[in-house]
Amino acid sequence: MASEGQGAEDQGFEAFGRRYRSERAAIVSFIDKVRAAEKNGGEAFAAWAEVCRLEPIRTALRMIAEREAYHSRVFQLRLAELGGEERATTTEEGRKFRDVLAAPDLADEEKLIYFTNYVGKPEAAVRDIRDLAARIRDDVGTKEALKLFAEDELSTARWLWHQCSELPARRP
Ligand SMILES: [Fe+2]
Repeated sequence: MASEGQGAEDQGFEAFGRRYRSERAAIVSFIDKVRAAEKNGGEAFAAWAEVCRLEPIRTALRMIAEREAYHSRVFQLRLAELGGEERATTTEEGRKFRDVLAAPDLADEEKLIYFTNYVGKPEAAVRDIRDLAARIRDDVGTKEALKLFAEDELSTARWLWHQCSELPARRP
């Protein structure tokens, strides 16, 4: 974990049910994980778009891939601005997620069902992001970026859930 920045007080900071040394420490930890996860997500959706045979969703999947990729780039930049280190790597879960979405022999319908099961209800999926944004007091730049990030993720999740609900009799 990177060292304390100036202005970080020693009363600590609560987020995600644990205590961080400071608001900055919680932010650095979170956006580093987001940076790694969104990069993986971008690669996963780009790979799905390449093998997607469901015409109505293919182009929108590319849009989702770009969103994920730019989230990663923006949080990478923010992490650097905060003097944080890039430590997070793709998790085993993330690797599996990418493999499933990229699989050329798995039906798009199956991937939609997999995604909705993986991500859960859209509102619940963005709860951590919104909770952190709501708790941030000092770093208003990251706070607002997280709020907009949550809106993007919500939009992506809702759209995919909607596509899944359109599948005849295959609702998860
Ligand atoms: Fe994402």
